[in-house]
Amino acid sequence: MKKLTCLLCLLSGYILMAQHTLPIVPMPAEDNHISKGPDFKLNNKTIIYYNSNELTSKVIYLQQQLKSLFGLSLKAFHKKDGNKINKNNSNIFIDMGPADWESGKGKEYYSIYAVSNSMSIVVERPEGFFYSIQTILQCIRPQTRPGKTREYIIPAMNFSDYPRFHYRGMHLDVSRHFFSIEQVKRYIDHLAAYKFNTFHWHLTDDQGWRIEIKKYPKLTSVGAYRNGTIIGSYPGTGNDSIRYGGFYTQEQIKEVVKYAAERFITVIPEIEMPGHSSAAIAAYPQLSCFPGESSQVPSNTAWAGSREGKQVQQSWGVFEDVFCPSDYTFKFLEDVLDEIIPLFPSNYIHIGGDECPKESWKRSAFCQQLIKENNLKDEHGLQSYFIQRIEKYINSKGKKIIGWDEILEGGLAPNATVMSWRGEEGGIAAARQNHDVIMTAQNPLYLNHAQSNREDSITQGGFNPIENVYNYEPVPKELNENEASHILGAQGNMWSEHLLNEKKLEYMLFPRIAALSEVLWSPKAKRDWNDFENRLPGIFERLDARGINYSKAYYVPTINIRPSGDHNSIVLKALSKKNNALFYFGNITRSEFRIYPDSVMYNINQSGVYGLRMIDKLMPELQGEKWGLAFMPGASYIFKTDINISFNKATGKKISLANQPSANYPGNGAFTLVDGIQNEKGLAWSSEFVGFSGNDLEAVIDLAEVTSLSRIRLHAFEQHASWIYLPATVQVSFSNDGINFTSQVESGHWDKNIFIVSVSKGTTARYVKLYAKNLGIIPAGKPGSGNPAWLFADEIEVE
Ligand code: ACM
Repeated sequence: MKKLTCLLCLLSGYILMAQHTLPIVPMPAEDNHISKGPDFKLNNKTIIYYNSNELTSKVIYLQQQLKSLFGLSLKAFHKKDGNKINKNNSNIFIDMGPADWESGKGKEYYSIYAVSNSMSIVVERPEGFFYSIQTILQCIRPQTRPGKTREYIIPAMNFSDYPRFHYRGMHLDVSRHFFSIEQVKRYIDHLAAYKFNTFHWHLTDDQGWRIEIKKYPKLTSVGAYRNGTIIGSYPGTGNDSIRYGGFYTQEQIKEVVKYAAERFITVIPEIEMPGHSSAAIAAYPQLSCFPGESSQVPSNTAWAGSREGKQVQQSWGVFEDVFCPSDYTFKFLEDVLDEIIPLFPSNYIHIGGDECPKESWKRSAFCQQLIKENNLKDEHGLQSYFIQRIEKYINSKGKKIIGWDEILEGGLAPNATVMSWRGEEGGIAAARQNHDVIMTAQNPLYLNHAQSNREDSITQGGFNPIENVYNYEPVPKELNENEASHILGAQGNMWSEHLLNEKKLEYMLFPRIAALSEVLWSPKAKRDWNDFENRLPGIFERLDARGINYSKAYYVPTINIRPSGDHNSIVLKALSKKNNALFYFGNITRSEFRIYPDSVMYNINQSGVYGLRMIDKLMPELQGEKWGLAFMPGASYIFKTDINISFNKATGKKISLANQPSANYPGNGAFTLVDGIQNEKGLAWSSEFVGFSGNDLEAVIDLAEVTSLSRIRLHAFEQHASWIYLPATVQVSFSNDGINFTSQVESGHWDKNIFIVSVSKGTTARYVKLYAKNLGIIPAGKPGSGNPAWLFADEIEVE
């Protein structure tokens, strides 16, 4: 009964909190609490009054949103039209200050005062009104009273709001996978809903050129299509052999730019140079220093169609064939920019500049001559020369360049703004050179990285949970005040290698975009993860109502497994994010469980008998069921878990390692090898491996008593593209005292990744030693040749 009371406390605590905090994301700059007084009533009779023609289009936008999201049809009048305010209705008054009036908080400022039947919105410019609409749309709640017409409420509120950063960006790569203009518009709507003001459109890359350039039609007729795409993670398990591509006409680009502008979002186009240019080179081979050479295609990549000539790439990564810094290339790029610049009102043109291998420039006599003639230090100097020449051209057209942080190498172009993606160092260095900076640190601002460390779908990069995004601080602490003033803001990046459709794009975007919006908009002092967590269920509710796909990784508990004190079983603990409550669950060998907040740990032992005491008390109807129940305040989900605990004689037993695993792949220490979990997801579950770089794996398991043995199995892993190779040899030996081991070497064989040793009949031992010899230096002709091989293992089974 005690536990049940505790559960009710938790729930009522949540409800109380919800009554006080407005469900707004990003958190408003000033007071964000529900005010005293009755809630504002919103229904079909509510009338909108506004005072300026400059607001008309946004008033229409508000009407459209209320109609499409809530089925409400509101009338709107310009105040000068002299309509009498209807005292019996609720009214929304929107007042824009006179042109010479300044709020002191910028043109995005708005204030809202809403109570009972009156809402007053005051703005400096239409931008502020637009953001106030986003705020209102988040706060509308249905008020269902039987027999009444459809009515909604907006909680009584009174506050002012304005952003912390001027640059609030999201990026989208449409080269690796293409998104139609309808999809891009919906993406822009998502950005607008969270008060972002910049859309960075990554339009060109090795896998496809996506924008019509009239002077160079082959950029799209050839460069926008590839003959196939690798399947799965790089280097792929095959190639789908499906011709893939698409591009935007200039008319479509204009349409998107206009659509974004109506939402106060600036579109910054990115035209990649000098690297990531395979698609352009496939269309116009003269852009390469070696037009006659075929594109290099990684030998381990399954390829569709001809490998001859210049190719649009079908896999991911970095490719050596890059723009040659020739007059032909510069003329080409100037022509391209001449068509790009008029399409985008943005002050900035992004010119890429990242990941440009220097191999082709090194072996090009032309490039070497150019380096000499221009007194450049080396190929990095040549990259700087390239970027500076383009910058000069773009500056001459009244625009500024942005480049990825590699543009620092060899000397920064004089007026360039830097996007710091490889961490913060590039941003810090650029700010110290008095250059403007946009922070896009891949960890945690690459939103294509996995949100869960048990992610089922294919993603790129490491684990990047929503808390990490939320806790990101765009201004590096190393900067003084003056340097910090160069941090314009930050941006989330969305690379599309594994975004095969819009649903996946949404899944990666939500809910992390909400966390990022608060980083960019709300005052630093107002950022509070616990408070954000309280608002998350509301975010999910709105996403559900709008049919938007989102990740529920937030609710997935972190699962900790450790040996029980007596080493006879394992203890499985699932830790929730909120309030550090512990969740418990029942039958973890099968796939379904739900969660309730509680603090029970489970002892799971070999016989499979584990207590369901708490479930019995909380949920009598579940007595005898072999699964637990899960619940989170505000939401309830059923999760699929892929955890299968395979008990064997080694599970939970004491284990020691002669060599410690690498700090990069420590797993859960030696216990990883006897935790009962066999990694079924490869590197996506990298925490289920111990990894050794160049070192051997030598483990001794103490079975606690002399035990009869029949079979030993080592579960290893191989992924040559990641330099992970199976061990060269595996040996098993036995001991009863843990000191003297048998000299006989039991023979075994590989079955895929599993090395199986069949132990001689009648063998008994207390200690089992397994020695797996690392492959050592990777031989020539194999990925990573010349480097130490990785040895990865996830489990040792003893039967
Ligand atoms: C990048 O991720 N190569 C900017």
